[in-house]
Parts: sequence; structure tokens; C-alpha cells
Amino acid sequence: MPAAADDSETFDEAERLSRDALRERQLTRLRASLQHAYDHVPFYRESFARAGLHPRDCRSLDDLARFPFTVKDDLRAQYPFGMFAVPKAEVRRIHASSGTTGRPTVVGYTEGDLSRWADVVARSLHAAGARPGHTVHISYGYGLFTGGLGAHYGAERLGCTVVPASGGMTSRQVQIIQDFRPEIIMVTPSYMLTLLDEFERQGVDPRTTSLKVGVFGAEPWTQEMRREIEERFAIDAVDIYGLSEVMGPGVAQECVATKDGLHIWEDHFYPEVVDPITGEVLPDGAHGELVFTSLTKEAMPVIRYRTRDLTRLLPGTARPAFRRMEKVTGRCDDMIILRGVNLFPAQVEEIVLRTPGVAPHFQLKLTREGRLDRLTVRAEARPDATRQERAAAVERIARAVKDGIGVSVAVEIVDPETLERSVGKIKRIVDARPRDKG
Ligand code: DLL
Repeated sequence: MPAAADDSETFDEAERLSRDALRERQLTRLRASLQHAYDHVPFYRESFARAGLHPRDCRSLDDLARFPFTVKDDLRAQYPFGMFAVPKAEVRRIHASSGTTGRPTVVGYTEGDLSRWADVVARSLHAAGARPGHTVHISYGYGLFTGGLGAHYGAERLGCTVVPASGGMTSRQVQIIQDFRPEIIMVTPSYMLTLLDEFERQGVDPRTTSLKVGVFGAEPWTQEMRREIEERFAIDAVDIYGLSEVMGPGVAQECVATKDGLHIWEDHFYPEVVDPITGEVLPDGAHGELVFTSLTKEAMPVIRYRTRDLTRLLPGTARPAFRRMEKVTGRCDDMIILRGVNLFPAQVEEIVLRTPGVAPHFQLKLTREGRLDRLTVRAEARPDATRQERAAAVERIARAVKDGIGVSVAVEIVDPETLERSVGKIKRIVDARPRDKG
């Protein structure tokens, strides 16, 4: 049962488990989840059979590594409901991720799934410093995206007052924040910057709001971005992670007390990190692609789902039994390969945010000249930046990318308020290269 005491350190009993007790719970649940998927989803029955495996072959947590992976295309191929493991009448909610190409990925939840989702989000908010009675302003989009509704029911479950603002109508959001005086805001970090601009436009000092904590996720963001947001708003900024295929927000959460990476709620989502090329399971501490197996999902269990997110697993701290994942600063899909050098938007974010005279707004534009790809970092000048500062910023960013990442890029400092602002997940890469033929 959720702890009622306002000042308790944890939200529920699972957070106080020993590592051994947690592992025992994981194994019991893992075996049940494999069996559930095998019994009710033809896709899993066939993929296990192809690998010559049956759920009873999983006798230890390590045995999971013998089971086949599931990838996004597998989910797409089963569009819309082929991955569901319960009769349609038991599905209470459907979400979908738009995806940049092709069919959306559809996910479903039973009543039990929705309740467990609310629990893990409540647990996450509690770890972020939210308490019953706080007001939570939610600017994640409501709709097929899991951000808004996922955050919403979790905040209600914790006992908070929820303001379901959703994304957009930025000037009204600023007004509402001033009038309703929330302690907590849940929003993408990029949209928080859009709100920041709007506070300033309305002549309100963002450091004077009622906000104490921001719970930011749904897109990569760096320690430099944390510093920028914390400083400009005078709040604590913590990271929340999740993905629709596995549940939505609340798969992992950073504790406000330590701000040292995200505790994965491993009693519901079993993590592995694998080599993105060979698929080999890597030891804790090694960098690779994060893979999740759901342990308690009914409507749509996922077995060894490859997230494409790059991170590493670390031992628990504020919640000792639960391993942490390092902040995700890149996805396999967002990696730019420029003249043989790998580059992630987050690496550029760190550099841009450390450059004087430059606002935290930037874009990476890919073009092609002859047969050579060219990358231009387009960053926005701060309104008060002088011409000299702007010129120095061009040099400084180009040099930092060359020295730190090892590749030459062009840099353009554009006028304030010229780059498109985020209302949800920001798109950093603009690919203006001609499409390959054939
Ligand atoms: O973005 C769920 C979510 C909503 C998480 C609100 C946190 C807050 P999807 O739209 O399916 O679900 O996108 C999932 O977003 O695989 C990551 O690449 C990225 N992502 C999510 N959280 C973080 C984070 C939601 N904290 C994809 N840091 C994931 C970095 C994140 N990337």
C-alpha cells in the first residue's frame, strides 16, 4: 500500500526491498510474463519456437538472454492489435506513437495495467520530490502520446492536484502557472525553454514562480540543459524516462535527492544493455542499447524490446535495490555519421550551452556538397549578444566540435527568435540532403 505519511522517503513497499528479494520477485514475474506472451500472442509463440525455446527454459534471470529480441518493426507488422495478449474487450485504453515513417506503433492497457502505470508514475513523482497536496502542472501532450495521460493518472494516484494543461497555447500556460501556483511541472525540457521565453516576454521573472521541481523527459537533454533550466527558473530539474512500447513515462526516474541518473523500476521492467551491433548482453557499467522485458503487463507484454536508446546500467543509490540507468543522451537513430565520425545532438547541446552569447536553441542541418555531407550547427544569439560575441561564438563552437568530437562543422549564429520553438518533443536534425535514388 502507498505510504500515506507526507514525509516518508518512499512511495511503496517495493522501493524498500533488498536486492535479493527484488531479484526473486523479478524471476517469478519474468517466467509468468514469458508464459503469458507465449500463450496469448502468436508472434511470441513463433519467435520462441524458431529459437527452439519454451518459457520453462527460463530458470534464472540470465536465461532471458537466450530469448529472441523484439524490435519496432515487429510491432508495426502486427498493426493494429496483433501484439495484444488479452481479448479486445479487456483493453481499456490504447495509445500510439506516430513514428516518423510508416505505420504507428499501437499499445494497449488493461485496467490492471493502467493501475500499475499510475503506481509507477506516482512512485516516480514521489522520488522527484512531489507530495500529496502538491499541484502538478502537466504540459506533456494529451492524446495518443503517452506523456500527458500517463503523467496525469500518476499525479492523481499520488494525491496531487492535477492541471492538465497539455502542450501549446504557451501564453495561457504562463498565466495559469502564475494563477494556480503549481509546485511541480511535467514537460519536455525543450518546451520548458519555450515557456521560459514566454515568461520573459510577459515581463515575469521565471525565478519568482511557485515551481519547485521540473520533471523532464520524452527527449534527450544534457547536464548543461539541467544547469540552464535550474538556474533560469530557480527549480530542481530531474529526469523521467519511458517509452510507449514498454508503458509510457515512469519506467525510470531520477531522485531529486541525488540527481545521479534514473532508477529503473525493475520490479515491472527488466532491463538489459546489449551491444547494438552484435546483440550480445553487456555487463553492468558498459555502454550499449537498452532492452526491456515487461514483468507485469497484461494487455501487451514485451519481451526483450530493443529501445534504440543508448545508456549503461549502474548500481542503485537512493533506491539501493534498483539499478540506475545513466541519462540517455543518444538514440541509435539520432546518430549522425559525418565523414566517419559519430555525432549525437546532445554532444552539440553541451557545447552550445557552454558558449557565451548563445541561447539554448539550436538545430543541426545536414546538406550535401558533391558527395560530401556537411553539417551546419545553427544556434540562436541571446538578445543582448554583441556582434563580437556572435563572431566569437562561431569560432568557439566550431573549435569545440572539432576538438571534442573530432569533425569539422559549419556554424551559423542566427538572430534571436528565428529557430522554431518546441511544443513537445523537439526535432534537432534537419536533413536537407537530396534523397538517395533507388
Ligand atoms: O516519450 C514517454 C515519455 C513521456 C517519457 C513523458 C517521459 C516523459 P515515446 O513517445 O514512445 O514515449 O518515446 C520514447 O523517447 O525511446 C527515448 O528515445 C525518448 N525518451 C523518453 N524519455 C527520455 C529521457 C515517451 N528522459 C522515446 N531522456 C525513448 C532521453 C528520452 N530520451
